[in-house]
Amino acid sequence: MPLTRTQIQQLVRLHGQEILCHEHMQIERVCYQHGVVTTFAHSIRVACLTVWIADRLHLWHRVDLHSLIRAALLHDYFLYDWHAHDGGRHRMHGFTHGGTAMRNAMRDFHLNRVERDSIENHMFPLTPIPPRYLEGYLVTIADKISATRETFSFDRFYKTKTNTCISGK
Ligand SMILES: [Fe+2]
Ligand SMILES: [Fe+2]
Repeated sequence: MPLTRTQIQQLVRLHGQEILCHEHMQIERVCYQHGVVTTFAHSIRVACLTVWIADRLHLWHRVDLHSLIRAALLHDYFLYDWHAHDGGRHRMHGFTHGGTAMRNAMRDFHLNRVERDSIENHMFPLTPIPPRYLEGYLVTIADKISATRETFSFDRFYKTKTNTCISGK
């Protein structure tokens, strides 16, 4: 039987607990990613979507669920607002933030190689090196789907910040 939305949320909460509770995730709550969606909410959406895709494609025996959820939650752990005026420092954000997210995540968490690689290369094919693991491809695909939805969502015309699959803002 396919996982329900509630079951997916519970899995993300369970496997992502250490990350979701970290003090630096508070930075993501005040940085906007696409439209009115915060980086925190975006990361949870991506994590939920990776689990949904893995479930619907029956990939349970081929993915490490714990690493998949942690990589998805940390894929945009760059910890700054890329819209902020910064004298051009974030001009290359699209190309550089995977590496920044990976370095920040390594500083704050103990990551395995699947998590490191999936975070660092999630912007493929914008960045040249593809993910090495299936978990990385799921993060990359879920990120693109979520980003497209958030960018073109009607939500962006309303100043609401409740759009997340787990009570994130
Ligand atoms: Fe990203
Ligand atoms: Fe993202």
